[in-house]
Amino acid sequence: MKQEAVRNLNRDIAICTRCRLSLTRTNAVPGEGPVPSALFFIGEAPGRNEDLTGRPFVGRAGHVLETLLATIGLQRSSVFITSIVKCRPPENRIPRKDEIAACGGYLQTQIHLTAPTLLVPMGRLASELVFSHFGLPNIPIGRIHGQLVYAGKSCRDLAIFPVYHPAAVTHNPPLKGTIFEDFQALGRLIEEKGLKLRDEQE
Ligand code: URA
Repeated sequence: MKQEAVRNLNRDIAICTRCRLSLTRTNAVPGEGPVPSALFFIGEAPGRNEDLTGRPFVGRAGHVLETLLATIGLQRSSVFITSIVKCRPPENRIPRKDEIAACGGYLQTQIHLTAPTLLVPMGRLASELVFSHFGLPNIPIGRIHGQLVYAGKSCRDLAIFPVYHPAAVTHNPPLKGTIFEDFQALGRLIEEKGLKLRDEQE
């Protein structure tokens, strides 16, 4: 049932024309991962490699993400991975407000279907979006990264764990240690919360 809903959603995203990004994309990049999944990672926007393949995080940032996941014993196939907008912005510019708004319903449906325990927004934009979605005050990523924030009274079981965007490490090497530490904290949280991820369930 859920798998069918995911297939339908991905089909809608593939032919979406809700914003100007549809005019310049090669492929839409809905995201991928198990449904349901305890862990849900949200990036910013597809880049060149993602646009060409239709898969999220397959370029340099994806390599960093996979390496970080491996340090806590996870494979990318154990977690759900997507981005705020599903189509590549030209020249990899930052997605605009109206593009983020046009794509918002897709992300919400993905979260609903995936029913995660932990949302992991990666980078400033994803963190801002998730905090504002749950009516939480915005706290800059430089202060909130690596901290667990509960999504609210109506979502007791859902928590947010913001981290820097993996691409930030490639632009700003001193962040490497910070993002590494945050992923180690994420690994401890997964243990503490007893989260079951797909590889362990099979
Ligand atoms: N950066 C993102 O935020 N998403 C991708 O899919 C790739 C790079």
